[in-house]
Amino acid sequence: MAKVDAAVISKIADSYHKDPHRLMDVVRDVHRDAGYLSEEAIEEIARAMGVHRVQVQDMASFYSFFDRKPAGACTIRLSNCVVDQMEGMKEVAAAFEKYLGIAFGQTTPDGLISLKYTSCTGMCDQGPAALVGDTVVTGLKAEDVPAIVEAIRKDKGRIGKSELFPNAEVQGGIQQAGAVVLAPFENGSALRKALNMSPEQVIEEINKSKLRGRGGAGFPTGMKWSFCRKAAGTHYIICNADEGEPGTFKDRAIMTETPDLLFEGMTVAGYALGAKEGLLYLRAEYSYLWPRLEQVLARRRRHGLCQSPGWDTQNGAGQPRGSRHPCHSGERLVGAGRTGISLFSLQRGQ
Ligand code: FES
Repeated sequence: MAKVDAAVISKIADSYHKDPHRLMDVVRDVHRDAGYLSEEAIEEIARAMGVHRVQVQDMASFYSFFDRKPAGACTIRLSNCVVDQMEGMKEVAAAFEKYLGIAFGQTTPDGLISLKYTSCTGMCDQGPAALVGDTVVTGLKAEDVPAIVEAIRKDKGRIGKSELFPNAEVQGGIQQAGAVVLAPFENGSALRKALNMSPEQVIEEINKSKLRGRGGAGFPTGMKWSFCRKAAGTHYIICNADEGEPGTFKDRAIMTETPDLLFEGMTVAGYALGAKEGLLYLRAEYSYLWPRLEQVLARRRRHGLCQSPGWDTQNGAGQPRGSRHPCHSGERLVGAGRTGISLFSLQRGQ
């Protein structure tokens, strides 16, 4: 989109009902359509969404996935994390540079392909990995480069099908079943059990289990839940699936192998905390999981597993209220503590 197309932006904003909480989705779709976010596009998004221009500007500059200058129709983002480097990323990078005749940070003269590094794709277990447009490719070798580039050229930069790279699809990666992942689980069983207890009893049960957070501090989950339950105001359950610590891909494995378990855990927590809504904060590198997660949610809603009477007991006047788990997409985040930064991002509708 050489010139900002106000009608297209308005249509994109309408498709999200101009909901400021979906600002990230709108910005992402405009970026996808235009290839970058110009000052005029930012202006137009703000107008269409009824938010301040600074809010859009803020988001556009915060996330490295958003180009502020015209980039190629397709951007190849090769992970240069230390693990990918050990797995042969430098040879792959050299092969891309040689085949395309450009260096990383540059775009081919025909405007079709840009080369960029990214710090983490969440695919350390199957590197070297890259994002080709929105498609994750793994286990790359220097000899794969011509086929990838030619596929992009054939599709004029609009790559969206992993079948184009059959040997480079994301692998499951789980080697061994454990107490959580791949253990037998009947959908709805935990929720049914929880609903036969009071929210306080559920929290007590979590306390007894000695479950702890996995973010480094190992904070006792039950204690956190009881603080949240007692806190004033509207409560939300936020699942932070924005992992990016070096060598980490546990969230990806859980969302791939046991999405029902994840959503059921969120629903039980929502009941215990008297939460109004649940949000899954999905990092952009995992956006290929989105359709599958939406499918699982739709099935759970159909089976009444996301809508439990008593969900909103804190505010409830005996009214069954539905829980929702809209998937929010987070672009790559770097810097501060994960939980803090995700909340910050979600609060800004990002
Ligand atoms: S992919 Fe290697 S650090 Fe995330």
